[in-house]
Amino acid sequence: MNRNIIRFGVIGCGLMGKEFASAAARWCHLQGVNFEPRIIAVCDTNVEAVKWFERHVPSVLKSTSNYRELLEDPEIDAIYCAVPHNLHADIYIDIIRSGKHLLGEKPFGIDREANSRIMKELENNPDVIVRCSSEFPFYPGAFQLGQWIRENKFGKIIEVEAGFWHSSDLNPNKEINWKRQIKTNGEYGCMGDLGLHVLHLPLRFGWKPKNVRSLLSKVIKERPDRNGIMQSCETWDNAILACEVYTDKQEFPMVLSMKRIAPGHANTWYIKVNGTEFSAEFSTNNPKKLSYLPYTPGSEQAWHVVDVPNQSAYPTITGNIFEFGFSDSILQMWASFCDEIVNGTANLPLQCATPFEAEVTHEIFTAALASNRTGNTVSISRSESIAKTV
Ligand SMILES: NC(=O)c1ccc[n+]([C@@H]2O[C@H](COP(=O)([O-])OP(=O)(O)OC[C@H]3O[C@@H](n4cnc5c(N)ncnc54)[C@H](O)[C@@H]3O)[C@@H](O)[C@H]2O)c1
Repeated sequence: MNRNIIRFGVIGCGLMGKEFASAAARWCHLQGVNFEPRIIAVCDTNVEAVKWFERHVPSVLKSTSNYRELLEDPEIDAIYCAVPHNLHADIYIDIIRSGKHLLGEKPFGIDREANSRIMKELENNPDVIVRCSSEFPFYPGAFQLGQWIRENKFGKIIEVEAGFWHSSDLNPNKEINWKRQIKTNGEYGCMGDLGLHVLHLPLRFGWKPKNVRSLLSKVIKERPDRNGIMQSCETWDNAILACEVYTDKQEFPMVLSMKRIAPGHANTWYIKVNGTEFSAEFSTNNPKKLSYLPYTPGSEQAWHVVDVPNQSAYPTITGNIFEFGFSDSILQMWASFCDEIVNGTANLPLQCATPFEAEVTHEIFTAALASNRTGNTVSISRSESIAKTV
């Protein structure tokens, strides 16, 4: 099959920029796709980060520390931008204005005001395809759970729980980085960092919270910098959000948690949906395991546990019995973004998170900050934006 080459520039060649390079390098893993990304230019203010790309990505023709050079280059079709949160608004706005497609990173603006500026620019440039990175819904177990939601298998939803947990910050000697400081990571703290991952599927299913009562905590208050001098950690480590969801047909409680300090958990993303006719749970903690419980009145309540086949949105060369992992989910997410650029939305198996979904997360996190300040439950306006995402 002929493949349409999408020529990419990468702005921000750190942790996530490199993940994209790796996914693009193993595109042969995907089967039957008519699109392929090619990274032809990179930008980072850190020379070492750029050098990594020059060493490992032979398709790179241009490297620079000034991202505007990428935006002025007519050979580049699309940009992946993975920079600290304080830079999202200015750089995303310039990318959108340049007419290049954008996969941006969450939280899509350091705060609600920054996010609104990005959304305004999008309104002025409706033809560029702009999506937000969120890879966990592409795990086969999560993908299957999403299919069950679309099939309306659950009956009346009893409750939903979703979360994303890390634990490396339990170590008080871990060096401070930009994610612990308000000026670079934002006041949302762990919510801005982890929250879009948690909300992507619930929002995709139309489950926008009507209100939120939050509990935010700071556990480790100081960390050493690279010179061993203690610096204060300003951002929230952990967040628990108790929400009420009202859809046209249902109302139910939803508990969301985003934790930088969940002892023992390394990148645990999970979702649990309980319903009167069907319940299901998936966690990346055990990426092969998918649990579900079908129920008819009076029947036995028995959880079924299956090793979910290695089948996500896009077929790959990997045999069904083999395990799926983080880098596979990144590859699948990139396939979805490239598919949308080349083929549109008509046959997309799972669309990447949209800017409208990211915008709703800002409404929720802003309300959560207010709730934590006052100890009250805070209402979240019923904006129209959610309707555009489902
Ligand atoms: N999708 C995910 O699973 C996931 C995981 C981690 C981080 N992220 C997100 O990715 C983004 C980047 O995080 P990261 O962990 O890759 O950070 P990182 O610190 O590893 O990389 C950021 C890079 O941006 C570069 N940079 C800073 N200012 C720049 C500028 N003006 N122009 C060009 N480059 C500049 C830095 O030098 C650095 O190399 C954040 O928005 C973060 O929330 C997403």
